[in-house]
Amino acid sequence: MNKPKKPCCGKWEEPGKRSLPKAAIPIKELGREEIKQKVKRRYDEFAKEGGSAEGCCPLVGKSTESFALEHGLYSQEELALLPKLAINLSRGCGNPTGFANLQPGEVVADFGSGGGIDLVLAAHKVGPTGKVIGIDFAPHMIERAKQVMEEAGLSDRVEFILLDIENPQVPNSIADVVISNCVINLCPCKPCVYKQIFEILKPDGRLAISDIVTRGDVDPKVRDYFQSIWTGCTGGAMPEDEYFKIVSEVGFSQLKVVARHTLGPKELDEMASCPGKKFSPVFSEEKLAQMQGKIVSTKFIAVKPKE
Ligand SMILES: C[S@@+](CC[C@H](N)C(=O)[O-])C[C@H]1O[C@@H](n2cnc3c(N)ncnc32)[C@H](O)[C@@H]1O
Repeated sequence: MNKPKKPCCGKWEEPGKRSLPKAAIPIKELGREEIKQKVKRRYDEFAKEGGSAEGCCPLVGKSTESFALEHGLYSQEELALLPKLAINLSRGCGNPTGFANLQPGEVVADFGSGGGIDLVLAAHKVGPTGKVIGIDFAPHMIERAKQVMEEAGLSDRVEFILLDIENPQVPNSIADVVISNCVINLCPCKPCVYKQIFEILKPDGRLAISDIVTRGDVDPKVRDYFQSIWTGCTGGAMPEDEYFKIVSEVGFSQLKVVARHTLGPKELDEMASCPGKKFSPVFSEEKLAQMQGKIVSTKFIAVKPKE
């Protein structure tokens, strides 16, 4: 009998299953499980406190209808559908429901659903015949998102799974669409996450992702510094071209960038402190200034081929 083999990131694979592309980020200093525990703790504590309207995610809530469409952000009309709790817990970097082309009756899985902002919007779009599935590993986030869905009157359209999105126990072939908003940058094994996205999608299913990546030359010492403390949503940000290579190598096709936004100084500071300064590690402002112009919110779609 074939022995399971160990691909990148130390995850055991079943023989005969598609192997993972190599992780492009070598994990420095902090181990992979240690990173995930830290990330989980940061977001769990933040959710326990009920979030905050301050200190993060400037990409939420200031857009006109046309600006929102062009930049992959929330429109005023969408914001009006959201309970305040969902906005206070929101820590995204775009609006994947805005470019996922969701249809009535579809099943949508949200990887790293947080406080449920995108679950609410997706649930409105898929309607009473559709379903949304929130997956997150922070127990208080799941509890808050349940509260949000109740407040929005959408509890009958949602299911929750408390699980690490790198974990192969994510169910297979149940979703038409996967959305994810500012989450995969936080994960030390991006190929593991994309493999789970591939597995949960039905053939011909699609993804719509908003995430943080780097573009242009980043001083390796500065990259190592932020990676070593896994700062906010920037510590695990990897070069966009390497990130897209992972998405393609896992098996997705027709990858198309729908919008990009380079973070300005205030946005960068807030994103590096996500979910808020109180919860994330202190970092050097001087080193962050060297990342200016290189941290980008990218929004893209791709398709799982029929066969
Ligand atoms: C930056 S917040 C974004 C939340 C939400 N998508 C939004 O737009 O507000 C990241 C979320 O991803 C979750 N998360 C991070 N790594 C995860 C993992 N490996 N498995 C499951 N959830 C994860 C965190 O608990 C947190 O709720």
